[in-house]
Parts: sequence; structure tokens; C-alpha cells
Amino acid sequence: MTDQTRFLMSESDIPKFWYNINADNPVPPTPVLHPGTLEPVTPDFLSVLFPMDLILQEISTERFIEIPEEVREIYKLYRPTPLLRARRLEKALGTPAHIYYKYEGASPVGSHKPNTAIAQAFYNKKGGTKAMTTETGAGQWGTALAFACNVFDLALEVYMVKVSYQQKPYRRILMETYGSKVYASPTDQTNYGRSVLAEDPDSPGSLGIAISEAVEAAATSNGAKKYGLGSVLNHVLMHQTVIGEEALKQMDMANEYPDVVIGCVGGGSNFAGIAFPFLRENLKNGRRTRLLAVEPTATPSLTKGVYTFDYGDTAKMAPVVKMHTLGHGFIPPRIHAGGLRYHGMAPSICGLYDAGHIEAVAVKQIPTFEAAIQFARSEGIVPAPESAHAIRAAIDEALDAKAKGEKRVILFNLSGHGNFDMGAYEANLSGKLEDYEYPAEAVNEAMKHLPQVQLA
Ligand SMILES: Cc1ncc(COP(=O)(O)O)c(C=O)c1O
Repeated sequence: MTDQTRFLMSESDIPKFWYNINADNPVPPTPVLHPGTLEPVTPDFLSVLFPMDLILQEISTERFIEIPEEVREIYKLYRPTPLLRARRLEKALGTPAHIYYKYEGASPVGSHKPNTAIAQAFYNKKGGTKAMTTETGAGQWGTALAFACNVFDLALEVYMVKVSYQQKPYRRILMETYGSKVYASPTDQTNYGRSVLAEDPDSPGSLGIAISEAVEAAATSNGAKKYGLGSVLNHVLMHQTVIGEEALKQMDMANEYPDVVIGCVGGGSNFAGIAFPFLRENLKNGRRTRLLAVEPTATPSLTKGVYTFDYGDTAKMAPVVKMHTLGHGFIPPRIHAGGLRYHGMAPSICGLYDAGHIEAVAVKQIPTFEAAIQFARSEGIVPAPESAHAIRAAIDEALDAKAKGEKRVILFNLSGHGNFDMGAYEANLSGKLEDYEYPAEAVNEAMKHLPQVQLA
């Protein structure tokens, strides 16, 4: 063991392959259904929204998929990201545990999201796309795709959830700086947006509504625009595995191996990104690392949602998939981790959770911000409110190890910095935050509106 704090690799260590969990997943994939017919989707349906390369990645069972040179070239702007040992946090906690974190906030836009945004923009450009549409909650995904579309000279329209548009004006300005057009969703730009506004002119919006608008804008563009999604889909999770592939090597540099790997979950991409390469080691090489997904008690899709088929968006335009869901009509409470407010979860993560390969825990907002502040004061980085959920769980693991007198090696993904989230920090420092637990009755009620899927 060393007394090193930062574990750094060189450009030549940027992974050359993404890891595809579909090759090793002991849980068979469930079908993806057309939202209208509720029959399995065809590539024709998907090709309205996505370029063929990404559709093929979505259904591929190849274990390793080569990262194109053009994508690795842009990854060089920030990859490999550092792995750090949180020595000062360990000391503050007085724990015998060793805490490591992979810092994805080191990307130009401050989160893990460019790992897939760059790939998606590249394959769209290659497939002849001229413009893309997308939604964004907290603004991290929209910013990442804005950056990537600019790199590959594509136009971008972003449907930003209205409450975030209001809370986070600087994220909007950042997207505009990269050359994108940003709308506060619900908008009057789409049929669906207009119908939501007609019912509730003050609608705060939701990720489900924004997805519907972005999907509609692409689907009705006669092929001029394609759609990009920042999480949930297999290919998105696969692009994020560069995080875990790098972390495997960096843990080796530290001469340690994690007992537990932790990530926050919105749609599941940063968690899958760090966890899936370690899951491969569990499945194929007899390792026993625990993989822990952390969600807010306000949007507890894994821990309180029902594992069933549901629509991916509010307007029922996106495919129907089997996942842990709070119901596609879910309007999330106004918590500050905007990126964790989705009603569902990546189907691959849900299957693995259901089969016991992954654990999940829900944490409350106030203790999450307490963890964020403790982390900032000991390690210096102000975490994104989303990432702070992983920190809460990492600290709880370290305190549990202390109580049991155990040396535990903890690795978590610090998916982004919170430099644009000062509104949330101010609310926390001035005591304005509230804890919220999503009620089980609301989940039960939402289950009455599920699609009636009858598979042969
Ligand atoms: C910093 C950060 N972490 C995590 C998430 C959650 O997304 P995912 O579960 O796909 O990683 C987001 C989403 O916007 C985010 O911005």
C-alpha cells in the first residue's frame, strides 16, 4: 500500500473498448415494446430517433465494443479522470475504512455525461444527422450534449425542465455558449407541450414531459433531427463503462480492491459506468464486491417502485420497457437533485437488482447535503447534489466499518461537481431544505395507469 492520494494514468491508458454487460448478464433481457401497439419494437421504429450504429449497440451481445478513434480523441480532453483516496475525509470520520472516489467532474462540463454525449454525437454525425434534440433535468446532460454537438458540428435543441430552467440559469447559458437552443419545458413548440400548458399553464415540468417533447420534435422532423437520451438505454450505460474500466486499473495502482462500489442513480448511467466492470469481475472471476445504487427517498424507483412494464415518458411516445417504476405520470417533488427525478430506471439495472446482483438504498435530502458539506470541507470539491447521494452512502459505509472495527475498501463515483448548484447549497445553508418520502399510496395509484402488456 502507498501513501499516495491521487492515482493518475496517461492518455495512452484511455480505454479502447466499452464493456457490454449484455454479454455476461445472467438476467435475460426483457423486450422493448412499441408504445402504441405494445408489441416488440422494430429497428424501423427506433431508426426514426437514433442512428443505426447506436441501435445495433443497443441490442448487441458482443462483450467489448471498440471505441472509435475520433471519440477517444475527444476523450483526451479529460480522460483518464483521476481516482483519489479521500484521506482527509477518512480522518474526519475516524474510520478504518479506505475511501476512494473516481472524479468525473473533471470533464469540461463537470460531469460523467460527456462519456456518452461524445459517442452519440459522433455516431449521429457519421449517420448523416444534421441536428439533435434532447431533454435535460438539472442541465448536466444538456450541457454535455451541447458540448459534444458543437465538437461534431451538429445543431442541438434542448428541452429543459422548467423548474430547473428557473433554478439554474447558468446551466442554460452554458448550453447557449456551446451554441445550442434551450427551451423551458413544457413549451409551446410541440403538440404535447401545448396540451400540458393548456391544462396547467404553471406546470413546473418533469423529465417525463421534457422527454416527450424532445422525442416529438425529432419524430415529426421528417428525418431532419434525431434524438439523444442521457441515461437508461443499454448503449448509454455501455458508453459510461470507461469509468469502471479506468477505476479497475487505478485501484490496482493503489494495491487495493473495493469491497463495495457505490453510485447515485437517476436513470442509472453513472452507476452502471463504474459498477458493470466490477460486476464482470464478480460474475467471471469470483470477486465478491457489493454494488450499491443510491437514490433519493423523494424518487425511490428501485426501492419503492414496482418492477413492471411502463412507458419511458409521460406522453407515451417513448418505448415501453420493464423497469422499476413510480408510474409514467410521476411529477417529482422539487428536490435539488434534478438529475435523479426520473420515474423509472435502466432495465438492465432493474433486472440485476431484482436478481440480487445489485443492492439499492434510498437516502433523504438533508442528510445528503450534510454529507456533501462534510466532503467539501475535507476534500475541497463541492459535489453535485446528485453525486452527494453516493457520498452519503459512502460515509454511512465508512461509519458502519468503524462501528464494526472493520477495514473496508469503499469506492464511489463522484459523478459531477456542484459549482452550478449554489442555489441548492444556499437553500441548505439557510435551513430551507426539507426531507420528503414519496408515499407508497401514490405508487399504488400510479400502477392503475400502466400499459396492459400481454406478451406471447
Ligand atoms: C452529476 C450527475 N450525476 C448523476 C446523474 C444521474 O444520472 P444517471 O443515473 O444516468 O447517472 C445526473 C443526471 O443528470 C447528474 O447530472
